[in-house]
Amino acid sequence: MKRKNYIYSLNEKRIIILNVKLKIKTTLNGFTIYIISNFTKKSFMSKVHNFSAGPGILPQEVLKQASDACINFDNMDLSLLEISHRSKNYVKVMDEARQLVKDLFEVGDEYEVFYLGGGASTQFAMVPYNLLTENGYAAYVNTGVWASKAIKEAKIVGNTKVIASSEDNKFSYVPKGYEIPTDADYFHITSNNTIYGTQMKSFPKSPIPMVCDMSSDLFSRKVNANDFALIYAGAQKNIGPAGSTMVMVRKDVLGKTTRKMLSMMDYNVHIKGESMYNTPPVFPVYVTMLTLRWLKENGGVEWIEKVNQQKADLLYNEMDRNACFAGTVAVEDRSNMNACFLPTQPEYEAEFDALAKKYRIDGIKGHRDVGGYRASMYNALPIESVQVLVDAMKEFEKTKG
Ligand SMILES: Cc1ncc(COP(=O)(O)O)c(C=O)c1O
Repeated sequence: MKRKNYIYSLNEKRIIILNVKLKIKTTLNGFTIYIISNFTKKSFMSKVHNFSAGPGILPQEVLKQASDACINFDNMDLSLLEISHRSKNYVKVMDEARQLVKDLFEVGDEYEVFYLGGGASTQFAMVPYNLLTENGYAAYVNTGVWASKAIKEAKIVGNTKVIASSEDNKFSYVPKGYEIPTDADYFHITSNNTIYGTQMKSFPKSPIPMVCDMSSDLFSRKVNANDFALIYAGAQKNIGPAGSTMVMVRKDVLGKTTRKMLSMMDYNVHIKGESMYNTPPVFPVYVTMLTLRWLKENGGVEWIEKVNQQKADLLYNEMDRNACFAGTVAVEDRSNMNACFLPTQPEYEAEFDALAKKYRIDGIKGHRDVGGYRASMYNALPIESVQVLVDAMKEFEKTKG
């Protein structure tokens, strides 16, 4: 039988020849040549479909640029990991990473952006530390584990009231119809509840400064950023790797407390230091900058919002149609980022796990508080991956029919 050899792809200095029995990797004139059999084609060519809840999927091209910068950053013949954060080459990165947030949010110079270590969890403490006055109080909405943790920290710093909560029904919905007090120092919400898979579909017009933890849906859809006094987000879901947290604050809400501030906890210190009061998380900020640049160059938030809607529609439609699976939260509050669902029979779980593995689907195990499955569909997840998950769900249903 005549074997067919052909070139599959010729890009990035890679030539891949398929359909031969041999399996060789060699280089020629700077090209890496892989000769692989059809058997290995699947594992070689198709990437794992990464539905991880966080750290989550990043664009392939960003990962490539980031790995190049580890060896030779900005044509310096030095690694990004071994140069000063005060070098002009890196200051450029930090400036761009800060400016991109303002561009994507379409806000002006009344806002400041900076990147800190310590994760979004440190912001649970820094927000009240900077905004909560000694005699005032803060108003919180409790929509899940992360909101509860934010409330816990705020209570340590000062007076805090929970004005609405969905804890009564295992955080399976987003509370509505509550009144935002006019006398509180600020009002705190969590836009997307990563663990439960609920999302605020709209934001109230708040009479007091509105603060939002956007860790798991930042730049996934258009929001009117001017309605917020402060937005923070751990980078590791939608905008970068773990290790940096984005904070954007409107300057007029700062400086209202009389407490003596610890420098590292003081937003004004980080603003004055242009996000470099101390050594910033250099590499995570770089990768965040690349990811935000990727988003802007591909059409910005308007573009990704459409893509994210298509992905969510595809999966939720299948979840509703397929008798083997059921959603876990109020339909109107379903998150476009984290879709949670349960198998309709407990014994399906192990079987579907095995099938998902066959389809190279990774990271869909639900959080231990919810069980079942959670498919996280962050910005960088291609719609093709969602289609693969839907195909697996359909195939699973057939085996049960
Ligand atoms: C909505 C939300 N807020 C806060 C956090 C905590 O973030 P970090 O681990 O960066 O402290 C998470 C983590 O998953 C989250 O999903």
